[in-house]
Amino acid sequence: MKNVFLCLVVSLTLGILSPWVRGVFADEYSRGKTIYEDKCQICHGIKGDGKGPASAAFKPRPTDFTDPNFWQGDVNKNIVDTIRKGRPPMPAFEMNDDEIKAVTDYMSRTFKKTK
Ligand code: HEC
Repeated sequence: MKNVFLCLVVSLTLGILSPWVRGVFADEYSRGKTIYEDKCQICHGIKGDGKGPASAAFKPRPTDFTDPNFWQGDVNKNIVDTIRKGRPPMPAFEMNDDEIKAVTDYMSRTFKKTK
């Protein structure tokens, strides 16, 4: 009897919490996706391959984020610095810490390939 009660409590708690847990993660991911598609894909491409519609106009060409070499070393810092300071011909972007974190997470979860 006690076990049945315990099961009920556990499943109720999980049932109540799971949409919240999913919401927190999904939000961060979709926020990052929106920012990326809004500000970055024009050059870096929707697939992150550096072949966005405007990419041909730039020399050097926009970085290919699907290249495993890009993900070597302290990439997060590199991405944050590049967004804040720009990297000619790439312009700097006015974004707050949350937005930068969201887009950085989106990029590493979507484009990152390990060798
Ligand atoms: C106007 C076109 C353009 C837009 C928009 C753009 N980039 Fe870039 N980005 C470039 C180009 C060109 C380079 C290559 C610069 C170089 O190799 O010197 C680059 C390079 C980078 C690099 C690599 C830096 C390094 O040191 O390896 C990162 C990271 C990056 N961009 C992130 C972003 C993010 C995040 C966004 C959106 C917030 C974005 N870029 C938007 C053109 C753009």
